[in-house]
Amino acid sequence: MAQKRKESAIIYRQSELATGIYDMWLETDLALQARPGQFLGIYSHNGAMLLPRPISICEVDAVHARIRIVYRIAGKGTEEFAAYQAGEKLDILGVLGNGFPVEEAIGKRILLMGGGIGIPPMLELAKALQHEKLQIILGYRDQELFLSEELSSFGQVVIATEDGSAGTTGNVMDAIKEHALQADIIFACGPMPMLRAIKQYSEQSKIKAYISLEERMACGVGACLGCVCRTTKPDAHSHVHNARICTDGPVFEAGEVDI
Ligand code: FES
Repeated sequence: MAQKRKESAIIYRQSELATGIYDMWLETDLALQARPGQFLGIYSHNGAMLLPRPISICEVDAVHARIRIVYRIAGKGTEEFAAYQAGEKLDILGVLGNGFPVEEAIGKRILLMGGGIGIPPMLELAKALQHEKLQIILGYRDQELFLSEELSSFGQVVIATEDGSAGTTGNVMDAIKEHALQADIIFACGPMPMLRAIKQYSEQSKIKAYISLEERMACGVGACLGCVCRTTKPDAHSHVHNARICTDGPVFEAGEVDI
């Protein structure tokens, strides 16, 4: 299991990828152990904010020891991160979370589904599965199709937009129906309504789905209990039907969680 440790990282570069969505590369040795679907805790320079902000890993460059995170400004912490410049240092905690079970997908027809700020983890996942048959469905609000071009080098990309400005009008489920996409396994990350729809679809169609519930995380380090969700199986140690998304997840087999 990957170790969790607080480290100092240097910002290699940062830019705005779409309105309010930032793309930051960090120089850190944690790149050597990061896997798709895992995340980092990013500390603010402001000492009043004690807990780190959980941000998912978008891409890993193990050769140059760099990790890329793509995040949306969603509060004071992320607003502060967006103002950081290349060369600045920041404290990070990682690598956190379990990640996607990539090995389960080998040889299967794989569907990757990302919605909104759940799209970034799909990039490292697509890289890890690049020799497999990949279909990628991306759901956006509007025509700001961040990361879609990069993802298109790993498989067939299908787009859905809520405002109908590109691809299928609607969400990722509407895109599945419109394109009659078939799969043996689904990996998904996105907002809760999207994940609920995928869970239902997975049950009806008997396609195994792994969903990342990272949207529900707050501290990301097991301290706030804001991420507890009900599980269908009891925990082996505590025997309760609860899991902490940040420490037991964020990736779960869809049938294991009550969302
Ligand atoms: Fe705080 Fe999980 S996010 S305990």
